[in-house]
Amino acid sequence: MIAGITVYLFLSTACPLSNRLQPEIARIQADYTPRGIRFAKGDAAAARKFGARVTPQVVVTGPNGRVVYRGRIDDRSPALGVYREPSKHDLRDALDALLAGGTVAVAETPAVGCAIQFDAPKQNATITFSKQIAPVLFRNCAGCHRANGTAPFALTTHADAAPRASAIAQVTRARLMPPWKAEPGAHAFRGAMRLTDAEIRLFEQWAKEGAPEGDPAATPPVPAFRDGWQLGEPDMVIRMPKPIRVSASSPDLYTCIVVPVNLPADRYVRAYEFRPGDKRVVHHAILFVDGLRAARKNGETYPCFGVPGFLPSAALGGWTPGFTATEYPPKTAVALRKGTDLVMQVHYHPAGTDTEDRSEVALYFTPDPPQRRMMEIALGSRNIDIAAGERRYLVRDRFELPVDVEVTGIIPHAHYICREMTGRATLPGGRRVELIRVRDWDFNWQRHYHYEKPFVLPAGTRLEMDFVYDNSAANPRNPSSPPKRVQWGPDSGDEMAGLHVQVIPVRNEDATELGQALWGKIMRGIRETRPAPPR
Ligand code: HEC
Repeated sequence: MIAGITVYLFLSTACPLSNRLQPEIARIQADYTPRGIRFAKGDAAAARKFGARVTPQVVVTGPNGRVVYRGRIDDRSPALGVYREPSKHDLRDALDALLAGGTVAVAETPAVGCAIQFDAPKQNATITFSKQIAPVLFRNCAGCHRANGTAPFALTTHADAAPRASAIAQVTRARLMPPWKAEPGAHAFRGAMRLTDAEIRLFEQWAKEGAPEGDPAATPPVPAFRDGWQLGEPDMVIRMPKPIRVSASSPDLYTCIVVPVNLPADRYVRAYEFRPGDKRVVHHAILFVDGLRAARKNGETYPCFGVPGFLPSAALGGWTPGFTATEYPPKTAVALRKGTDLVMQVHYHPAGTDTEDRSEVALYFTPDPPQRRMMEIALGSRNIDIAAGERRYLVRDRFELPVDVEVTGIIPHAHYICREMTGRATLPGGRRVELIRVRDWDFNWQRHYHYEKPFVLPAGTRLEMDFVYDNSAANPRNPSSPPKRVQWGPDSGDEMAGLHVQVIPVRNEDATELGQALWGKIMRGIRETRPAPPR
């Protein structure tokens, strides 16, 4: 047994990645404590002494107290919010080498995590919590970061925010938070969450000045948030028939749950709200209508990553943290037939503890049959074949509108290695209107974007999509290390390309013509999809 080896663990329960690693840290402690390794909690003083900048991170010192390893525990997270199967177990390798009497082969690895706040409040600080920071947090963050919110910690008081000031500066600078991927464009989105550059600079300056509070009396009141169903008492609440187990050490789960609706008669849904059972683990959900009860043949629950595993008759919509209730445009509704099942496709994101989730959906009905037709124009391609290492692979699609439509929303979809998305409309006169632009696609924060004010595009307008994929090792969201050839498919290692434009034909009678044109597009798409040549 070799005495005198200490592992300093720099962890933080406010950092999701740190919590995610908890089960592995517990296993490492259980494996190596009996072999004489000592584990110590790293505090701010130790972080300063040993040069730890983020949590989670470890520093290993030898018998003489000198640092022999500093960095990550394993390589599961190449960037904040990105998780893959670890292929390198750096801490274990370092400890094994030391226990065998050797030296650590790689003494330093990059640690990815949440920045540690070091600086104490400065005397002459210009930015204070009460004056400049609280208003920005309350407006942009507290909707999720509050007691009973969907984020893992609150940011409503100075005591909440100050220890996290550096992490706040870090995630806002990278535009990871608030989690909103669409750039501001020609048509504003409902509920858009985006910080200005000036607000980002405020957070940075505040962290540098040691996150002072200022005069507590000057802090604006915390906004009142409503905790129950946002639209009042629902007409019906449907609940997952059984809880879904999400264990601490499980990988991300993509589960489809078949929920019988048991309607006594046909109904029209005018609004819905999804409520996660355990907010810590439900990362996003998509709600499909299964009028033919086709999903049941897959079982009550089944794994489903990119596609739901049956042909849905409609979709109610989606949910991501921060989403509240969704009301459909006036005079539209989603029809639910008597025997319908609902299929919840849920992405579970383990949070470091064993838990169960039983999510619910509130439905609000209207007695009025829809007078206007909501339709979806799906741009996309199945012709995807991206060589390992390819940095800019372009997927395009086009569709010319045969009739005038009102555009109400848009849903971009791809898996992990897509980087940039552009949706555009070129009007008959040649004028271009940007529908959506994403510069930094993140599968984990996909969402349904609703336009604040729906707008009309005339017949003859060309809808266009350009998606760019990066299948190189330089893409931190690449799930394969080293990169592998990627083709179209529903699994997490495959890719997809879809831009769903939600429209309502301006004249109801035009719905048939639009429907036929969309079928024509699908048929052409099938003809044009050729099996990729072998490499
Ligand atoms: C729509 C809901 C939502 C909003 C709005 C939001 N957050 Fe978050 N935030 C989350 C969730 C959920 C997580 C946990 C992410 C995870 O588990 O990977 C998180 C994590 C974080 C983290 C931990 C680091 C990380 O990325 O994992 C920080 C710091 C943070 N948020 C700061 C902010 C700040 C500052 C704002 C406002 C400027 C903000 N957030 C707005 C939902 C939100």
